[in-house]
Amino acid sequence: MADVVLDQISKSYDNQNTIIQDVSLTVKDREFLVLVGPSGCGKSTLLRMIAGLESITNGTLSIAGRVVNETAPKDRDIAMVFQNYALYPHMSVYENMAFGLKMRKTAKTEIETKVQEAARILDLAHLLERKPKQLSGGQRQRVALGRAIVRNPKVFLMDEPLSNLDAKLRVQMRTEIASLHQRLKATTIYVTHDQVEAMTMGDRVVILNKGKIQQVDTPLQVYQNPVNMFVAGFVGQMNFLAGILEPDGLRLGDNMLMRLPQVLQNKANQLNGRGMVLGIRPEYWLAPEDPQEGQTFEVCIQRIEMLGREQLLYFPLSGQTVVARWPSDLPVKESESLSVKLDTSKILLFDAATEDRII
Ligand SMILES: Nc1ncnc2c1ncn2[C@@H]1O[C@H](COP(=O)(O)OP(=O)(O)O)[C@@H](O)[C@H]1O
Ligand SMILES: [Mg+2]
Repeated sequence: MADVVLDQISKSYDNQNTIIQDVSLTVKDREFLVLVGPSGCGKSTLLRMIAGLESITNGTLSIAGRVVNETAPKDRDIAMVFQNYALYPHMSVYENMAFGLKMRKTAKTEIETKVQEAARILDLAHLLERKPKQLSGGQRQRVALGRAIVRNPKVFLMDEPLSNLDAKLRVQMRTEIASLHQRLKATTIYVTHDQVEAMTMGDRVVILNKGKIQQVDTPLQVYQNPVNMFVAGFVGQMNFLAGILEPDGLRLGDNMLMRLPQVLQNKANQLNGRGMVLGIRPEYWLAPEDPQEGQTFEVCIQRIEMLGREQLLYFPLSGQTVVARWPSDLPVKESESLSVKLDTSKILLFDAATEDRII
């Protein structure tokens, strides 16, 4: 069992700059967990603490049931893959992959077996004699993965391993890493700032902001049930409209009343007169003919982005620009008015002061 347990982990520099605050998290054995958040939120710091490359200021870190706070990186049974590959330029692909094992005085025949096996899995067998500069970006990234695989670690730590690749290769490597995990079934903690990577790769996703965990859940749950405005806006697109709660709905600017589902209204009523923020995903907007119940608005289309499969419509509502997803075959023109229906059963409500979701 190689679960990784973080218990109230904190990190500060010089006793003042708190970079990571009270992070508690259990990464299950064999799980693929994605740590996602904006640049500078502390993802690398947290991963480096797990790897042992950074000291832990407070809290307890356990790997496979053993407290490892003071354990040297090489004795933690982990392997880390970095964004910049960090391959040795003067060594061949084979030597790069073999290096870590050699340093551990692994027998030559065993090194040979392991490197060949990793090369086969990663489709590098025909490139073993090449130097890193003779490889493409994707191939280099595969060598970096290979170097981690040969160690046969209990836990893989990956820090934005695909960030240096172009968009197409990134998508391809995303699939490769996912299927690699299927085969190796090692506990993996994968760091990214890219929400698409997080949503498509993770069994579960941890959303980090300013060194604090915001939410830990499956990709679908964080999308459908974000706990606060940060998560709602970070995972996918969301329109936010501020308003004041009234007994029969939310009063938005322009004297517009937005009806709320009864349960939400009841719940919000208990917070009497508080400022509220409405969360509307672009797909909550429907054509007026749609049988789904909702509230219809007459809007003036400002801008259209045709994406082929769908189009994005931008229009002002209550003093803000709102975006709606729309079927591309429905005729719409810029500067013309359009009836749009909001599926009010789906809207999310947030407390304007705390930015927490009201459920
Ligand atoms: N040695 C250090 N001393 C002080 N602050 C640091 C040090 N290393 C990183 N930081 C700060 O920690 C924060 C988190 O950095 P990092 O973990 O690299 O974020 P991320 O990987 O999410 O982009 C940043 O604000 C960064 O400036
Ligand atoms: Mg980082």
